[in-house]
Amino acid sequence: MAGSRALQRAVNIEDLRQLARRRVPLSVFDYIDGGADGEVTLRDNRRSWDEVLFRPYNAVHVPRPDLRTSVFGCDLAMPMLLGPIGFTRMINTEGEPAVAAAAGEAGIGFCMSSFSGYPCHEVAARAKAPLWYQLYLAGGRDVCIATLERAWKAGFKVLAVTMDTNAPGLRERDLHNGAPHLMSGNIVGMLPQLPNILSKPRWLARFLMDRDAMFFPNIQLPGKGACPAADVRAMLTGAVVTWADLQWIRAAWSGPIVAKGVLTGDDARRALDLGCAGVIVSNHGGRQLDTCYPTLRALPEVVRAVSGAAPVLVDGGIRRGGDVLKAICMGAQAVLLGRAYAYGLAAEGGAGVAKAVSILRADLERTMALLGVASLKELNASLVDVPKSW
Ligand SMILES: Cc1cc2nc3c(=O)[nH]c(=O)nc-3n(C[C@H](O)[C@H](O)[C@H](O)COP(=O)(O)O)c2cc1C
Repeated sequence: MAGSRALQRAVNIEDLRQLARRRVPLSVFDYIDGGADGEVTLRDNRRSWDEVLFRPYNAVHVPRPDLRTSVFGCDLAMPMLLGPIGFTRMINTEGEPAVAAAAGEAGIGFCMSSFSGYPCHEVAARAKAPLWYQLYLAGGRDVCIATLERAWKAGFKVLAVTMDTNAPGLRERDLHNGAPHLMSGNIVGMLPQLPNILSKPRWLARFLMDRDAMFFPNIQLPGKGACPAADVRAMLTGAVVTWADLQWIRAAWSGPIVAKGVLTGDDARRALDLGCAGVIVSNHGGRQLDTCYPTLRALPEVVRAVSGAAPVLVDGGIRRGGDVLKAICMGAQAVLLGRAYAYGLAAEGGAGVAKAVSILRADLERTMALLGVASLKELNASLVDVPKSW
């Protein structure tokens, strides 16, 4: 991992966030950083990690904590995966191959979005780590079945079906900053943002030279080819995944399926009853339904409902290694990162992603040592104090 001096100086994920703010236009930064409506859930996701307090085993020497785990047969060097982020190639033209390479270097997994800018086989060629594919029903069943076949053939072995997108959320910052115009290539609509876009010439030059940046090659529309980014909002509106869809998706995919976007015990049980191998407690990083449960607060209910029958993963607001360990103490098998690595990507492409992961790895090792815990198996509920009202 090389990268600029500024990247090397980053100490935590907030430093990467600030670097990202300086490197990409406001419309791109706010596309990553923003949440739905009043951004209550966005803030609560982050805050809830700080409400859980550690109860360490002191006077214990842990020279080299063991961070390894395994989820759905995927061996991970740390209990984390890089989660699905749509429009990655717009954030930085290096896109998903660079994310997959950084995940591979760190020995963790990568779950690629349906709205990815590079085809599955190109991403797989750069990945040494487990690959998962995230599914939206974009383009309808036939388009999806073809996508699933290509993803499976390329080496994606776990399918994450996103269940929390009953309708596209409203991210007000995107509307204020013209992100939809940028995504649809509407020059006139982008005019008010032009000064800001022009102030990031390095990002702009790369973006303009990358003719494929605004297409999604993993969604191949009949008679049209790769789905244009401009069609996404309309497509999402018509691409709601229902419980009935989960049944035919189960039949169309040979590997494990995980339901992403579960916030209640009832939905978790329903997903498992329909053949899912696990669930991801997620509210889409506060980008869909505002004022719903922050994910850490939803985790205990889901863990109780699943009752050890399947792995439970969680995402939302994870910015420190300590957050990851709290999730595991509370019953999660692993976590997904979202913005934590997207800030790195925006700041400096693959090197920025690698930096984000290395910050979290160092956090994990240090926090395990401070907790007096030698391996993930030793983490348990007695190491955390969870607010009684959860
Ligand atoms: C810019 C951005 C794009 C996202 N795109 C997708 C997507 O295409 N599919 C999906 O299932 N989730 C998507 N998510 C949600 C993430 O996978 C994840 O659930 C969320 O970011 C976790 O919260 P965090 O960013 O606070 O860590 C996106 C999130 C962000 C920030």
